[in-house]
Amino acid sequence: ARTAAVIPAAGRGVRLGPGAPKALRALNGTPMLIHAVRAMAASRAVSLVIVVAPPDGVAEVKSLLDAHALPERTDFLVVPGGDTRQESVKLGLDALPPDYEIVLVHDAARPLVPVDTVDAVIEAVREGAPAVVPALPLADTVKEVAPAGTPGEPEPVVATPERARLRAVQTPQGFDRATLMRAHETVADDVTDDASMVEQLGERVVVVPGHEEAFKVTRPLDLVLAEAVLARRRL
Ligand code: C5P
Repeated sequence: ARTAAVIPAAGRGVRLGPGAPKALRALNGTPMLIHAVRAMAASRAVSLVIVVAPPDGVAEVKSLLDAHALPERTDFLVVPGGDTRQESVKLGLDALPPDYEIVLVHDAARPLVPVDTVDAVIEAVREGAPAVVPALPLADTVKEVAPAGTPGEPEPVVATPERARLRAVQTPQGFDRATLMRAHETVADDVTDDASMVEQLGERVVVVPGHEEAFKVTRPLDLVLAEAVLARRRL
């Protein structure tokens, strides 16, 4: 079965501060998106990368990809994204050629995921899981809160889920193509990851070990960490 990766990269990244769309910000001189595309293309199984670009940035993203060589075996497509991550992923899936049976969905905002993690996700889909997410145990205890009674008041804690049973999920998430397409056609709510749509269908979703370098670049400090990881890799 052939494997393609869809990379939603159409977000503005407001939490990162003002500036270019997040995926186009540079990490050690190379746009985050290029790092993310290379991370997918590093897997020998991935033969197509579909980048979902900001709607006004399609031409820019195409020329960026032309300027940064990918392995010979990897093709790429660039399509315009939508207003939400979920819409952007759907637009990417709509561009998928017929002969791909396994689809990875990978955030441009996770530029440093190691190839072993990508391969482990693909392998678990090949072995029959309809949906696979890389995930890590949590360092922090997590609490569920309710809205404050009056705005500005402290939020009351409602529950403390048992930490040992919780996982922080990353990308790439891997899917049987037909299952993911069905999820996107059926589930309308805005969700923060693709696997939760498959869960809503009642399909089995499994976890494989994630990696600390697959963290999401969200806030300014994450840029510092990402550049430090890249610098360490060059040693
Ligand atoms: O905002 P968040 O960090 O959850 O975004 C995750 C990924 O989804 C990012 O790579 C971002 O570019 C992408 N995204 C998108 N289209 C949107 C919003 C986010 O492709 N409308």
